[in-house]
Amino acid sequence: MSTIADLSKLESDLLGEVSAAGDLVALDGVRVSALGKKGRVSELMSKLGALPPEERKSFGQAVNTVKQKVTEALDARKGILEEAALQARLSTERADITLPVRLGPQGEGRIHPVSQVMDELIEIFADLGFKVAEGPDIETDENNFDKLNIPADHPARQDHDTFYFAPKEGGERMLLRTHTSPVQIRTMMREKPPIRIIAPGRVYRCDSDQTHTPMFHQIEALVIDETTHMGHLKWTLEEMIKAFFEVDEVKMRFRASHFPFTEPSMEIDIGAEAIGKPGKWLEIGGCGMVHPNVLKNCGLDPDKYQGFAFGMGIDRMAMLKYGIPDLRAFFSGDLRWLKHYGFSMLDVPTLGGGLSG
Ligand code: PHE
Repeated sequence: MSTIADLSKLESDLLGEVSAAGDLVALDGVRVSALGKKGRVSELMSKLGALPPEERKSFGQAVNTVKQKVTEALDARKGILEEAALQARLSTERADITLPVRLGPQGEGRIHPVSQVMDELIEIFADLGFKVAEGPDIETDENNFDKLNIPADHPARQDHDTFYFAPKEGGERMLLRTHTSPVQIRTMMREKPPIRIIAPGRVYRCDSDQTHTPMFHQIEALVIDETTHMGHLKWTLEEMIKAFFEVDEVKMRFRASHFPFTEPSMEIDIGAEAIGKPGKWLEIGGCGMVHPNVLKNCGLDPDKYQGFAFGMGIDRMAMLKYGIPDLRAFFSGDLRWLKHYGFSMLDVPTLGGGLSG
């Protein structure tokens, strides 16, 4: 039978083994051989019962003390070895963050030029303090026309070759929005001025030829407060066009026009030298000061509030900026086209980094 002297030898043996363990696996071996079910300390515990009662207590306590010391030593050694293992990994597994990104399969995908241009425009307008507003593609007649000062018998309705849904019984007749202007209405019904939003999105017109597709994209802008005037409209457009085409100077021309929801109304042309066609003008959208009736229709007092709006064709702008000749190819889903004209997912447009990367 073990004596107290044997016990202290066992203790110093075990502590020696613990501090000699060179790695976590070896340390766990020591733990099992000491404290495991059949370990040396556990075995002593199981022999307690065979001792005469007067020795049992003190021997039991002595074994427990050994067990406690060994446990503490194991924990301390484990901490040291874990730290050493971490340091070893850190010194071998170095990441060189200057290496180019390996794209893997995601690199095969392409961002569509329309998405790229939308992101570029959002970036430009965010910098000017605009926020993005959205509305649904399926709109009410009221938001798409009536509230925009286009009553049922207005000739402008015929300009928009509208896709209507079959009227629901007793319900409103829904349609596919023909422009992004209903987002103006939704915004003014929801928010009080000052308002400064852009609304990029899909629009639909029953029209299809080389330069028209039944679905295309627009970006709308709306600014309403108490003092906004045409000068602000012009400045905003100029800044936007310069930033978008990434040029320092741009020639712009406003042509008198008519939209029921703006007064006065203008069409916006840009000098095509910006895109290498000197002497030519290109129409990119419509704009004007928001018509007092539209403000009234949205519950805003036209004697107090005023502002401007514009709407532009995003697809058109993508064609101009990136030299893409055929509009229909935008929506044909041809992968070869997308490989050629699309953008890498890493070409996130930023003003600082240059919009088109
Ligand atoms: N909604 C008009 C269109 O689709 C463009 C526009 C927007 C004109 C805002 C003036 C103000 O043609």
